[in-house]
Amino acid sequence: MPPAPPAPRDTRCLDARDDAARHAAVAEAARVIRDGGLVAFPTETVYGLGADAGNSRAVAGVYAAKGRPAFNPLISHVPNLEAAVRLGRFAPAALSLARAFWPGPLTLVLPCRDTEAVCDLARAGLDTLALRVPAHPVARAFLEAAGRPVVGPSANVSGHVSPTDASHVLSDLAGRIDVVLDAGPSPVGVESTIVDCSGLEPCLLRPGGLSRERLEIVLGHALPDADGADEARPPSPGRLASHYAPRAVVRLEAREVRATEALLTFGGLRPHGSEAARLILDLSPAGSLEEAAANLYAALRRLDAEGVAGIAVVPLPREGLGEAIADRLGRAAAPRPVPEGD
Ligand code: TXA
Ligand code: MG
Repeated sequence: MPPAPPAPRDTRCLDARDDAARHAAVAEAARVIRDGGLVAFPTETVYGLGADAGNSRAVAGVYAAKGRPAFNPLISHVPNLEAAVRLGRFAPAALSLARAFWPGPLTLVLPCRDTEAVCDLARAGLDTLALRVPAHPVARAFLEAAGRPVVGPSANVSGHVSPTDASHVLSDLAGRIDVVLDAGPSPVGVESTIVDCSGLEPCLLRPGGLSRERLEIVLGHALPDADGADEARPPSPGRLASHYAPRAVVRLEAREVRATEALLTFGGLRPHGSEAARLILDLSPAGSLEEAAANLYAALRRLDAEGVAGIAVVPLPREGLGEAIADRLGRAAAPRPVPEGD
């Protein structure tokens, strides 16, 4: 039998967009976390669905609200490196990355040293844990005030596109969570880059808001992909092929637009057939990959809301944030049915 749906919750949206409102909103959101509630909070990448990482009932509520399978572990968020070193074991390379890029869009997978502050369910029973120190000022204030690690998967229904705005969170999770802390759009727009530092050499589990090139400069060598790098090590449990999925059929590397398709383009490109496109969205007319990443998920949601059946996507550059964009678009284009993603 499928699990019973979670009891409905009265979802409050707390405005943290300006300085005057922020303090009270953050304090209230932190109180809800300490009381075992569910709070969607802004980060510079995407909005996260927060709960006290040490409270397994609250963490179970996160899985239930998202419809996420419990074998897929969650990232724990902390306000600074001092809090992180109490939870995970940092090898020298992990410490260099943390010092260079935290706070920021980087998640490190490390051997776990505190199995109470981050409960078994949050780690899906693994003896490693994923840690992140986000840079968003509202996230940092919220984590400071919560005073404990906060799990934060993206605040969307499992398998949907990640939310980059409070309105996206509400359209997926209204009635299933207690609070949304609204700080406006997420500036980076794609999830954090995940580096596994639990083995002998660091490897890339998920491309994201911090480019591979920048990580390699600090490491002083190439960063291999996890998949295939080490057969003894399983890839990230949440790296399912079809994910970040809009309802429309997504066609990549399109050199022309077909009848009935919408066009998702970049840098002002207008391939053959564009004149007849149902809708044209340009991720960055100026050709900036940072701007394209920031606009990606809102564009996919908009195309879905318009009810388009097909989306033709032009070829995009692969360097810098282009790797994360290509990864997400590849998953959006993967064959359905949509499985349990994250
Ligand atoms: O930008 C982000 O990372 C956002 C914001 C809210 O921080 N969070 C996010 O979380 O994207 P989520 O749950 O949607 O993706 C986390 C990924 C999943 O693919 C999960 O399998 C992987 O991290 N993960 C978590 N713990 C892990 C572990 N111990 N080992 C390997 N992979 C892990
Ligand atoms: Mg997610």
